[in-house]
Amino acid sequence: MGKSELSMQRDRRSEWFRQDRFGMFIHWGLYAIPARGEWVRSAEKMPEEDYMEYFKEFDPVRYDPKEWAKTAKRAGMRYAVLTAKHHDGFCLFETGTTDFNATRTLAGRDLVKEYVEAFRAEGLKVGLYYSLPDWHHPDYPAYGDRQHPMRDNPAFKDKTHHFDRYVSYMHEQVRELCTNYGKIDLLWFDFSYWQYKGEAWRATDMIRMVRELQPDILIDNRLGGNMFAHEPDSYAGDFHGPEQGVPREGLVDEDGCSVPWEACITLNNSWGYASADNVFKDAKFVIRTLVNCVSKGGNLLVNVGPNAYGEIPAESVERLQEVGKWLETNGKSIYGCDASNFAKPEWGRYTQKGKILFAHVTEQVVGHISLQGLKGKIRKARLLRDGSEAILTEFWNAEVDTFDGPNDIFMNFALPVQSTFLLPDPVDTVVQLELAIDETNGVQ
Ligand code: GLC
Repeated sequence: MGKSELSMQRDRRSEWFRQDRFGMFIHWGLYAIPARGEWVRSAEKMPEEDYMEYFKEFDPVRYDPKEWAKTAKRAGMRYAVLTAKHHDGFCLFETGTTDFNATRTLAGRDLVKEYVEAFRAEGLKVGLYYSLPDWHHPDYPAYGDRQHPMRDNPAFKDKTHHFDRYVSYMHEQVRELCTNYGKIDLLWFDFSYWQYKGEAWRATDMIRMVRELQPDILIDNRLGGNMFAHEPDSYAGDFHGPEQGVPREGLVDEDGCSVPWEACITLNNSWGYASADNVFKDAKFVIRTLVNCVSKGGNLLVNVGPNAYGEIPAESVERLQEVGKWLETNGKSIYGCDASNFAKPEWGRYTQKGKILFAHVTEQVVGHISLQGLKGKIRKARLLRDGSEAILTEFWNAEVDTFDGPNDIFMNFALPVQSTFLLPDPVDTVVQLELAIDETNGVQ
């Protein structure tokens, strides 16, 4: 079966996304004050009045989205996604639908607008996250819900609510977000559960509206619907968004065509600012995760959780900067690259762009490095970091040993070929292998 019209549209819309590969997720809101993550109200079953204290107090005096944008840019990130509204229902944007928004706090202004402008000015693509659940709106189910802060509070048991009114409210907010800020590149809905999915959100109508206002916008898959179907629902989304994990292999739909995807991960273990969570992943981890994603045709969205003043934690900035340094020299093996048709090698991973196969060597091997099945297929091998030659050679001991295959060729960084040399970059040594023309992966 050929590609469906919808999946072709998906391919077209996601072109920049599949080139850019690396983005910044930003979880920020009132929850930065309690500093116990963005689920704090739900986790602690906190009453509205208590949470409103944070609303009264919210005053992000050091909010400087230009600085955020610079941090993202220096990290080598090419796009960003900011929580315009999270599950607590607080809106960082100016809205006619509720007073529960940033303009009514001490900040006194539309914080989404400044974000959009600052990131755009740095040449980054701009995305907005929007929560489908809403713990502030009186018409959102509370008692008996899966995660509403009042789910177990008997006082909410007989409270009536009109879900339909909530859905209209939500549509209006999405309309505002798609109208007031010029071109938005990506919309990240979060999330569906139980019966609250697809048409419960009036998703077909919503998507129709969004696509009218923002024809090229890319939409994630959390409204519900099966994006892997031959004829996906209109709201099934343009990309799949695995959370806190990287799929074992690239994702394909029922027709066997690859589906764009983006793994989103936290840098410590929290999305929203959590002052006591200091278990940060290091730059090496982030780099290898990014390579892992790209080697399977996916993207990586790395989260930061700015604090109550509006600053991205220094631990995050430092690590991201290191990632950016690596990308400065090795970005060519990431941006615009895709999965390779060659199987994952024992010592690392491959990414590929057309006839350039990038060997990401992360594991120190004994002696020379085997390039399985590549004999006669490589024109030359160069280290990406400095353009220096990597030596291609036959298996050094062919007369005695037989563990090489007839189609294998080997590589080393210096002579003699059977020696073990320390990897020039212990994080990930990238070797550019120029392939004979008929081995391209179709990516130009
Ligand atoms: C989850 C959480 C949320 C977070 C999101 C990021 O769905 O509810 O707090 O924003 O994942 O993927």
